[in-house]
Amino acid sequence: MARSKSDNALQRKGRSVAADNGGSGYGENTAKLDDLAKNIEDSAGEYLTTNQGVRISDNQNSLKAGDRGPTLIEDFIFREKLTHFDHERIPERVVHARGTGAHGHFQVYESMAKYTKAAFLQDPSVKTPVFVRFSTVAGSRGSTDLARDVRGFAVKFYTSEGNFDIVGNNIPVFFIQDAIKFPDFIHAVKPEPHNEIPQAASAHDTFWDFVSLTPESMHMIMWVMSDRAIPRSLRMMEGFGIHTFRMINAAGKGRFVKFHWKPVLGVHSVTWDEAQKISGYDPDFHRRDLWEAIENGDFPEWELGIQVVEERNETKFDFDLLDPTKIIPEEVVPVQLIGRLTLDRNPENFFAETEQVAFHVGNIVPGIDFTNDPLMQGRLFSYTDTQLIRLGGPNFHELPINRPIAPVHNNQRDGYMRQTINRGRASYEPNRVRGGCPFQAGVDMGGFQSYAEKIDAQKIRERSPSFMDHFSQAALFFHSQSLPERNHIVNALRFELGKVEVRAIRERMLTLLNNVDRELAGAVAEGLGLDVPASPEKPLNLNFPADADPKKYQPKRPTSEMKPSSALSMANTRKDSVKTRKVAFLIADGFDDAAVFDMKRAIITAGATPKAIAPTLGMVTGVSGESINADFSLLTAASALFDAVYLPGGQSSVETLKQHPEAIEFVNDALRHCKAICALAEGVDLLESCPRAEQTGLGEGEQIHESGIIASRSATARQVADDFIVDIARHRHWDRESGPLTE
Ligand code: HEM
Repeated sequence: MARSKSDNALQRKGRSVAADNGGSGYGENTAKLDDLAKNIEDSAGEYLTTNQGVRISDNQNSLKAGDRGPTLIEDFIFREKLTHFDHERIPERVVHARGTGAHGHFQVYESMAKYTKAAFLQDPSVKTPVFVRFSTVAGSRGSTDLARDVRGFAVKFYTSEGNFDIVGNNIPVFFIQDAIKFPDFIHAVKPEPHNEIPQAASAHDTFWDFVSLTPESMHMIMWVMSDRAIPRSLRMMEGFGIHTFRMINAAGKGRFVKFHWKPVLGVHSVTWDEAQKISGYDPDFHRRDLWEAIENGDFPEWELGIQVVEERNETKFDFDLLDPTKIIPEEVVPVQLIGRLTLDRNPENFFAETEQVAFHVGNIVPGIDFTNDPLMQGRLFSYTDTQLIRLGGPNFHELPINRPIAPVHNNQRDGYMRQTINRGRASYEPNRVRGGCPFQAGVDMGGFQSYAEKIDAQKIRERSPSFMDHFSQAALFFHSQSLPERNHIVNALRFELGKVEVRAIRERMLTLLNNVDRELAGAVAEGLGLDVPASPEKPLNLNFPADADPKKYQPKRPTSEMKPSSALSMANTRKDSVKTRKVAFLIADGFDDAAVFDMKRAIITAGATPKAIAPTLGMVTGVSGESINADFSLLTAASALFDAVYLPGGQSSVETLKQHPEAIEFVNDALRHCKAICALAEGVDLLESCPRAEQTGLGEGEQIHESGIIASRSATARQVADDFIVDIARHRHWDRESGPLTE
């Protein structure tokens, strides 16, 4: 295992944390780490004390009237300890409660001065500290990581001009167009109110009831029913700012901008069957994966991309740039990659950092501004409002994880848990008693100036007709998917709607799906044992009544059919690396030493991690007497937790494994989930003992290498290692799978 580059808490006491990072990416910009270090407590070598600093001599017994008598109320040590414990919990986030975070930094590739005056986007030598929190949306704090759900992707940049947050998701669109619908949507997707069932799942009546009555959600539904909603790793998913933002340069010129995060490892997901199994074997799968990658020095990276639209082109698209249920296809406006985000340090303390961090779409810096997207506008209110109660008052910006590295000076005062000790008589402005301080900053001194957008409108509670095409981009997404991906969407819909009890909800959903694609609706209907409702015959989009007021009628007629976009399919992601992939070696005593050690070397050299899985923990000995320590027993590991499986030879090793149903299930699941498998010598027998091996054409010859399966009775590990590594890098071999849709 690579030596951990992340620092250990106990080594940090009394020194600059960043200085300990030995030249790791964080290196030169220690500003936020030094800031956090002021609050780090480390008990190494210290006496136990009360919160008042009084040393405690006995932490085992409360103070009593006699050793069998009642506890005395004067026991301040006991009272303080219990009182603090009784108040340890704060409310979980009303959404995105389940999450995990990491520190890192961001660096721009070249100055973005032509688009924005934001200081952190000017100088490629500047490393801006960041804190990132990934999350699921619907589940509670303790729910599984592998729920079918949107993933939150929130990034706080501690810039020299103040904090800038991109509070995004791993899906580039949203369910609803107007924030006034957010509480309805969240109430529908959360566990049902009468019995609080189900946890962290959209597969229930209230969610689909809402969706079936909300056609604007159909584009997002396509994404959420795709494998994007069950990522292999948080390190292998994209992120999106979703809304159209604005960038403003020093000359005051504004442009529309969409933010994208592109993972350096590519975009990869697991299968739904795997997701459900992982939820049982390791509900912390994503959290653990991120933590371990950073501890191992495999720092996750993303490139920041922007799509830039000139203001004069605002209305040139078939959709409205202010509509958060729409993407700008990358083929129409390419994504420019402008910088790199690296996560290189795990938090010291989950609660202090990951739980107390407060992101806000409203945290912007000069050079970046909002647009009138009605979902974004509502978010601008909601985040501070919720954080006031979640974090207990108006001073949560003073919490170490939230405070900016830019200095804070204003006349705000007091409130619960105030930490700042403001000096002086004046807490108002203008004042003379403090010489007018703090001063307003002119724009030329870095003062924020809102973009002077011209608005000439009537106050009106209506939605723009330009928001009303709800199906064109849903169809664009579906038609841009590879066949296996389309099959997965059909199966996801069959699963989700199969859990819905009210038939009318299923039928309404089939009607909406029919508006996206007839084949899709037909395949889902077949799985539900229903017919697609006969009307409307035409897609709702096209069923535009001649006499309807186009301003009021929704959904609207699409202006043109959109060409498939290859950027929307994970089939086109990069598949050139096995870095950080986990390969299971199934072994027992008597394994073929050369086959194991040669393959292990090759896999480590390629950047992946081999893990030995044996019937029990402890040392396992090869046929030539070499030993290896089992990382997992067959009881504590399962194929779903690995990327690929290696079955080396060794007569008695394979004979032993064949006696274990867990070993057969392990390999069978790897076959089912289309993972790379390599079986050598007697290992081929183990592969052939699996029920699914029949479908692979195994047993017909001495050797096969197809669809991600290498099986050879004669080849050596050295001969096949390169092929196996290429197969692992492909991630999945979907041609082994059959599905409801055929080409
Ligand atoms: C494009 C649509 C949206 C995206 C991408 C989004 C993203 C996120 C993310 C990533 C978080 C978790 C932040 C963290 O890790 O602490 C979050 C939390 C939250 N979101 Fe949103 N959200 C969206 C829409 C909305 C809307 C429309 C509202 C309300 C009007 C809303 C209200 C909230 C609230 C109240 C929280 C909890 C914040 C906290 O407790 O700190 N979100 N959202």
